[in-house]
This record gives sequence, C-alpha cells and structure tokens, in this order.
Amino acid sequence: MSKTNWPPLSRIPRHVAIIMDGNGRWAQARGLPRLAGHRAGTENLRRILQACTDFGIEVLTVYAFSTENWARPEEEVRGLMTLLTQYVRHELDNLDRHGVQIRHSGKVEGISPDILHEIQRAVERTRHNNKIILNVAFNYGGRAEIVDAARRMIADGVKPEEVTDALFEKYLYTAGLPDPDLIIRTAGEMRLSNFLIWQAAYAEYYSSPVYWPDFDEAELYKALAEYARRERKFGRVPSPDEPKTTDRDA
Ligand code: FPP
Repeated sequence: MSKTNWPPLSRIPRHVAIIMDGNGRWAQARGLPRLAGHRAGTENLRRILQACTDFGIEVLTVYAFSTENWARPEEEVRGLMTLLTQYVRHELDNLDRHGVQIRHSGKVEGISPDILHEIQRAVERTRHNNKIILNVAFNYGGRAEIVDAARRMIADGVKPEEVTDALFEKYLYTAGLPDPDLIIRTAGEMRLSNFLIWQAAYAEYYSSPVYWPDFDEAELYKALAEYARRERKFGRVPSPDEPKTTDRDA
C-alpha cells in the first residue's frame, strides 16, 4: 500500500523508544562485515527520525550502545564509537536546522573525552529546539541508571520518607521526558535487554521481524497502527464511557 493510502492513525504515541536490533544479521545476510550493518543502521536512523517528526511523535529514544556492548570485539566497539561521533558531528547542523533537540541518556563515566565533548556540544546547541527530541541511549544500562539515581539521592541527603516515584524520576537520565508509550524492537527479538526498565512500566511493546537497517517508514506505520489499536489501562479497569487512552489523539 502506498503511503498516501495509509489510513489515518487514531492516536499517536508521544514517546517512541526503539531497540535497533539486527544490524549484524543484516550485514551477515549480505556477506558484509558487521560494521557495514551498523553503518546502514545509522543511515536508517536519519530516515526514521524524519518519519517520527512527520507522524508528530514528540520523543524518539534509540538504544545506540549499552553498558554491556563494551564486551563486543574491540574493532566493533571502535567502529560504533566512530559512527556515533561522525553522526553527531556531521548531522548536527542539519538536526539543529530541523528543530531536533538532542539528549543523552547514559553513564558519562567510561565515554572517551572527545566523544563526550561532541555529545555535550550537540546537547547544548540544540537544547531549545522543540520539533522533536532525539534521546540517544549511549553507554546506557537500565539497572545502572537506577543505581546511579539512588546514589545521587543519598549523596544529596534525601531522607527515606522523601523518596517517591516522582522524586526518583528526577534523578534518572530521562528526567523531564514523558515515559515511553511504545517500545519497538526490531529483528524479531522479545527482550528488553536492560532498556528503560523503570520508564517502561506501562509501555506497549511491539516486535518487528525486520532487521533495523530495513525498518522503514512503512514498518514504523505498522507499529503505530498496532499501538493505536491497543487499549491502555495503566493497571486500572476503565469505566465504559471513558476514552480509550490518556495520550494525545492524532
Ligand atoms: C544491535 O544490532 C545494534 C547495536 C548494538 C548498535 C546500534 C547502533 C547504531 C544503529 C548506530 C549508531 C547510533 C547512532 C545514534 C548514530 P546487533 O549488532 O546486535 O545485530 P545482531 O543481533 O544481528 O548481531
């Protein structure tokens, strides 16, 4: 079905988070090195970010590099670091011009100073943009995020009785962002892999069989259409006359 024939979506998630899986398998299927898959995956991020903007999504979080990914072969880690740095360096003008606000979610410790400098420069320069937020989960681990938050609360002298969900959220890397409404994982896997484990409490999940480099706007539309069909209950039994969702109607 061509794009012009896609039925309109009854509602759009505010925050979509994506586990961009399958780059390695995409490359392997073509007899290419794994890094070629990551390069194609980076190209695809450009397209999907544009598509998310067009759909009116407010926040796109992408899982770019986990705290566990350091255990990959050295050459692959180095390649991923180069791709990320190049993406931020080469795309910054373009992202800024298109109103993209860049955020980083993850541990600062462990990131090399030159990469950290590029990330912080991009975050600083785009901080007032408001077309869409691109939140890059880089050197990110959900458990580490929670442990970090607890440590910083203790260091701030927060008293046990002051600890609430709302306060805890202020100490997470994602402070100020809405929770993800929809989490997409490509390449057919059905794991969360330590991604946004606090924030995902009421997210809807969608698993696509397509490898990330091939996950295009049409595949994104399928995920959004499935999301629009789901009834979100947030643990409650909705009353019969209540609208089906709490997020924004498209
Ligand atoms: C998972 O595929 C993908 C990653 C671990 C890295 C994702 C990174 C990018 C798409 C590029 C850099 C990101 C930015 C923000 C520029 P996999 O290697 O685990 O695939 P496999 O399971 O098929 O081996």
